Amino acid sequence: MTDRYAVVGNPIAHSKSPRIHALFAAQTGQDLRYEALLAPLDDFAGTVRRFRSEGGRGLNVTVPFKHEAFALADRRTPRAERAGAVNTLTLHADGSIDGDTTDGVGLLTDLTVNHGLDLAGRSLLVLGAGGAVRGVLEPLLAERPARLVIANRTVAKALELAGLFADLGPVEGCGFDALPGRRFDLIVNGTAAGLSNEVPPLPDDVLIEGGACYDMVYADAPTAFVRWARERGAAHALDGLGMLVEQAAESFRIWRGVRPDTRPVIAALRPGI
Ligand code: ATR
Repeated sequence: MTDRYAVVGNPIAHSKSPRIHALFAAQTGQDLRYEALLAPLDDFAGTVRRFRSEGGRGLNVTVPFKHEAFALADRRTPRAERAGAVNTLTLHADGSIDGDTTDGVGLLTDLTVNHGLDLAGRSLLVLGAGGAVRGVLEPLLAERPARLVIANRTVAKALELAGLFADLGPVEGCGFDALPGRRFDLIVNGTAAGLSNEVPPLPDDVLIEGGACYDMVYADAPTAFVRWARERGAAHALDGLGMLVEQAAESFRIWRGVRPDTRPVIAALRPGI
């Protein structure tokens, strides 16, 4: 019987995950169906239960349910515990649920494998201090950067997040007003500012010459942060398409035991290629 998987969120209609997983399944010869599942805002757990009772084997979880997925999981990986969120649920036949998060490894694979960036000894600036940023701090620090600065509009949240990860490396939190005079090799945007087509207030010279910028979100047209990076001559001005495909590939590996080749899938999704 064809195994069923889905991405669950609200809203969900524009998710690219069904297309990504269909391409993975075709490439690896896995017999599965992957759909988009809209959960009511007040019934995430019921939606998961119904999907499982209909034979569902696994779920990707997106906004706004990653915390509820964390709470629903009977077992969680150490990286999900660190991230405080779950984006991959495995629904077992005995009724138990495993939770993992693949967002962090998705970002790191895109940065280091697909784009060949070496973060060891580098200065990293991460913009934002919400759930998206919390999900990527552990793997970024595992690359052993010289420092990782979290800058956020609400300074207290940046300080709190830095404190949560201080045992993993040289991480500090601050507000945007503490950035003038500091320079970074890589800037990762994890704020929601792009949703309103804005870029956080950054000094013009905050990126070193030849530095890289990464926007964790993806849109068909260049995001405001990608445009900002291009205007400042960044050597890499990247959006989150690669991260989206890489986190999906890691979820696919967890469920199916096979890691798909992501390059042709990224190329197929990139508009104009
Ligand atoms: P997510 O789970 O996507 O990270 P979140 O937890 O709501 O969402 O976090 C959104 C992040 O974007 C926060 O860091 C937020 O800053 P505050 O903590 O000060 O709210 C940041 N953000 C949202 N809009 C922003 C804007 N216009 N400029 C700068 N930062 C913004």
